[in-house]
Amino acid sequence: RVRPSSYQVTANFVKKLLPKHREDSHKGDYGTGIVLGGNTNMAGAVKLSSLAAVRMGIGVLHTIVPNEIKNTVQNYMPENITWAIDYSKSRSSLNDTAKVLTKSDAMALGMGMGTKSNDQFFEKLILSYKKPLVVDGDGLNLLSKLPKGVIKSNWVLTPHPKEMSRLTGLEVSDIVENPVEVCKHYSKQFNCTLVLKGASTVICSPKGIAFINTSGNKSLSKGGSGDVLTGVILSLICAGATPLAAAISGVYIHGLSSDLLLESQNYRGILPSDVANHLPKAINSIT
Ligand code: APR
Ligand code: MG
Repeated sequence: RVRPSSYQVTANFVKKLLPKHREDSHKGDYGTGIVLGGNTNMAGAVKLSSLAAVRMGIGVLHTIVPNEIKNTVQNYMPENITWAIDYSKSRSSLNDTAKVLTKSDAMALGMGMGTKSNDQFFEKLILSYKKPLVVDGDGLNLLSKLPKGVIKSNWVLTPHPKEMSRLTGLEVSDIVENPVEVCKHYSKQFNCTLVLKGASTVICSPKGIAFINTSGNKSLSKGGSGDVLTGVILSLICAGATPLAAAISGVYIHGLSSDLLLESQNYRGILPSDVANHLPKAINSIT
């Protein structure tokens, strides 16, 4: 049900929101982004976010992960720069990466991060970071334990219903039954861009205006799809989109990429990495 303060997200709508790219551009025009997350047994999430960010056209990407998985992340693709941190030593590990953080235009945080003993590191990091921040996965679970006043208006939160339940205290059933109303209410309360994910993802502005996505299909119902989305949104912010425009267009293009893949293959075997690798075709199909 679409209300007056809700909009359907379509290809034409997204086309206008995409950052313009010039023929005489250089990498600085498309921004420097950070993907920060991962844990000993979870290297895949940051790999997928990083892959999606470069496939979406980010200028320079730094991936920051625990030392134990640095090599596997570094070897996954040649296009990013990989740094090691230690979540348990909040001060020193932030110093190590302080330069990278200062140079960056935006950061995506929390994918596969785990929630064990990261609290102080996490809190310090998000309080000190002034640029747009995309918070996903375990970043949202860590944020659930903090006062919501720490959230800034240039943040994008990307919860699925379970993460939204932890953030708000609502029952998952209340969230999935009223996604538009819930998203509107909490985007205003948190004063940030909120992406409530599902088969029909709702994106709300900090003022509670709702945008309902129309792309995507069940091939996305797999571990890793959300990590790809996070990288897409990060990349669009780095290229100059506002956090809200990046969230709306990112959700649409992520879904569209899976829709194009579905034309030639069965949904079961479409992988999140396929969806990331197909992003350039998805962009071409609407521009
Ligand atoms: N139709 C359209 N889009 C869909 C569908 C569908 N049927 N199913 C899933 N999607 C999209 C969602 O809208 C979202 O963008 O796929 C993405 C799934 O994102 P997540 O729910 O975050 O899934 P995933 O990336 O696998 O994250 C798993 O979440 O539960 C935690 O800790 C768990 O780390 C794990 C992570
Ligand atoms: Mg997820």
